[in-house]
Order: sequence, then structure tokens, then C-alpha cells
Amino acid sequence: MVSVVFPAAGKGRRMGARKNKVLLEIGKVPMLVHTMRRFSKSPQVDFLVVVVGADEVADISAMLKLVSGLKPYRVVAGGSERQYSIANGLKVVPEASDVILVHDAARPFVSLKTIEGVIETARRDGGAIAAVPAKNTIKFVDAEGTVVRTPARSELWEVQTPQGFRREILLRAYEQAERDGFLGTDDSGLVERLGVPVKVVESDGRNIKVTTPEDMIVAEAFLKEELKGKFRKKLRNH
Ligand code: CTP
Ligand code: MG
Repeated sequence: MVSVVFPAAGKGRRMGARKNKVLLEIGKVPMLVHTMRRFSKSPQVDFLVVVVGADEVADISAMLKLVSGLKPYRVVAGGSERQYSIANGLKVVPEASDVILVHDAARPFVSLKTIEGVIETARRDGGAIAAVPAKNTIKFVDAEGTVVRTPARSELWEVQTPQGFRREILLRAYEQAERDGFLGTDDSGLVERLGVPVKVVESDGRNIKVTTPEDMIVAEAFLKEELKGKFRKKLRNH
């Protein structure tokens, strides 16, 4: 079975809204619900764990009760850092999960192809992360603002979520990080420390992490276009 942990316990400071950005609506539906529905559409996904602020558990649980079309889920409290939130989520992942995915609740436009690609690759190879080839040239820069060197763009990928791993690998990575007091910026980073190889699954540019107010404009546009596509399909099938 496959379980997905959704870190959603951030404060959304860069969004500057008065509430957790994952509760902001895109086309009248909260971002978190869009994200959970995407994963619920995959027959390969069995269980969802939503990690929210300790003071949000009751309200978000009540809100989700009104939502249809979701796989079985649990809502738990997170921590002060994304990594701590995920660690809390992992505690309630069913033991029967052979593969666990972690996906930012703030990435509501992930495709089914990416979700299932990450699941398949994680199951086969142990670890898999969604990513896109870097669009921009990226440079190493020192503390004085001087360029140190320019890595070849062809070797650079921008990583996203979902990031998926065989259960025992991910749990071991989190235990080791906790023992070492290591704080990473993604889950793969914790697994890489174990020396376990992680594969890249090519994703697409729609899988943005909604971070700033401008991203909300882009999100509304993506949704509008998707709905148009769905409507056209319906007409064709009539
Ligand atoms: N997250 C979390 N627990 C935290 C911090 C972040 O679960 N302590 C989650 C966020 O809710 C989000 C994802 O991790 O879904 C990615 O984090 P980010 O985009 O940085 O969201 P926020 O931390 O909420 O935003 P900001 O950094 O602007 O405050
Ligand atoms: Mg953050």
C-alpha cells in the first residue's frame, strides 16, 4: 500500500495572507483540498496524512469532513520546521505502507503522471523525486557576492515534490537525521546522507509551490485552463 504525507503546517509568511496559505481558495476550493483530491484520483494511493498547525487540527478536520472524493486520511499536528512536521506525520503512517510519498500541500497542480511515476520508481529503486531540468543558469556565489563558478546547466535539476521512498529507507533517514540533529531542505537530502541512491522522475512546470501572492494568480490561471480542457473533453464524449 502507498501512503502520502502532506506537510501543511507552515505559516505562509511569504504569502502574507492572514491564514495558512494552504487554506486559500483556488476557484473556490481550498488549495489543500485540490492537492488531496489529485492524489485521491490515483488507484495506487491508499492513505493520506495531513500535517497542520496544532491550533488548526480541529478546524481543518471539520472542513475536510465536508469534502467528497478523498481517500481515507488522518489529520495530525506538525512542528516548527517542515522536517519536524513530516516526522510527526510519519508516526501515523500505516505500517502496511511499502512506499511513502511526501508532498507539499502547497503544490496543488501535480499531475497524475508525476504521482504514479514517483510511486513506481520508488518501489523499484528505493527513492524517487519529482524534478524539472533547470531553466536558468545557476552560479555558486561567495559571501562577498563574487561568482565562484558556474556548474553545467545540463547537470542541474530543480526538485519538487512528491518525493517517494520505500518505507524502511525513509524511516531510517528520519531517525538518522534526528540522531545527528541534521535539518535538511527536502526529504531526499536525508536519504542521500545514508548513501542510498535517489532517482529523478521528470515532472513539469505546473507543479509549482504556491509561495507568494503572484503565484495565486498563476494558480487561478492553471485551474481555469484545466477546467476548459475538461469541458472540451465532455463535449467530445457526447
Ligand atoms: N510546512 C510544514 N511545517 C512547517 C513549515 C512548512 O508542514 N513548520 C509545509 C507548508 O505548509 C508547505 C510546505 O511545508 O505546504 C512547503 O513550505 P513553504 O512553501 O515554505 O510554506 P510555508 O512555510 O507555509 O511558507 P513561508 O515559508 O512563506 O512561511
Ligand atoms: Mg516555509
